[in-house]
This record gives sequence, C-alpha cells and structure tokens, in this order.
Amino acid sequence: MAAPKTREWQSTVSVWNVDDLDAADRELLREAHEAASKAYAPYSQFLVGGAVRLDNGVVVRGSNQENMAYPSGMCGERVAVFAAGAQHPGAVMQSVAIVSPSANAIAEAFMPCGGCRQVLVEAERRQGTPVRILLQVRDEEVAVSESALNLMPFAFEAHGLGS
Ligand code: THU
Repeated sequence: MAAPKTREWQSTVSVWNVDDLDAADRELLREAHEAASKAYAPYSQFLVGGAVRLDNGVVVRGSNQENMAYPSGMCGERVAVFAAGAQHPGAVMQSVAIVSPSANAIAEAFMPCGGCRQVLVEAERRQGTPVRILLQVRDEEVAVSESALNLMPFAFEAHGLGS
C-alpha cells in the first residue's frame, strides 16, 4: 500500500517573563486580569479574562459568562472579541491578552479553546493583519503568538461562503 502524503503545521510561540514585556503588553495583561475579576462563572469557578487592543487606542474587555443552560455560556476572550467587533466595527485588533487566574491551580497552562481560536482567526482574516496573542500561562510567564492562525492548525476557511 502506498504511503499517504503528509501535511505539516509548524507552530511557535515565544515565552517571556512578564517583566521583560513592554509596557503596553503588561498593561493589556493587567486589563485582562481586571476583566477576569468580573467573570460570571458560578458553575465552573474557572475565571477567564480577555482584553483587546484596537488601533484606535481603545481596549475592550470581556470575561466568561456562564449560564445554567451550560452551552449558552460564552468564553471570556470571545466575549471580548465580539464586544470589540460590536462596539468598534472596522477597528483593527492589534493584540489580545487572555488570562485565567484559575489556571495555575488546575491546568498546566491555559490556552484558548478551539472555538475561540476559530473566532480569532476570522478576526485576523477579516482585517487582513495578524492579531498578536498574549497568554499568561503562569504568574510570571507569558506565551506570545504573533498571529491567531499560528494557534489554529488547518483552520476552517470557506472562501466561497456568503458570496
Ligand atoms: N473558557 C474560556 O473562557 N475560554 C477558553 O478558552 C476556555 C474555557 C471558560 C468557559 C467556561 O466558562 C469555563 O472557562 C470552563 O470551561
């Protein structure tokens, strides 16, 4: 039997000590933490905050919002990205910080779920420039991805939809 062809996906993030990031990035992480403190997560107790920096200088925050009907809830970073789109249509999302103060205790590292990656990839495709993503993986450690697509191997992209 013939061997199948393979397709590979290379994905790299840089890992920083938070103190080595520039002031704007540290500020965005602080905004995301502030957002996480306003999460509504009575069912999971897992708090997530997101902060989106737009090219018009505005920072839009979001936090996870759970619901008794579980699937009706929404992830924190997606709330932030959708709020940015709703309040500032056409503004370019330059960076998104995503944090979870709950992650140290129960997860090795906090990374956004697949659905949120898909949403970030679409924001990037729509605006035509990369969205930088800052992920606070531990108290002192921040992973930086230079684009959303870098975190989403083989993303769904249907160019013909809607046309
Ligand atoms: N959650 C997020 O806010 N972002 C993610 O990327 C993964 C999960 C939230 C959803 C739910 O409120 C809680 O974390 C537990 O899954």
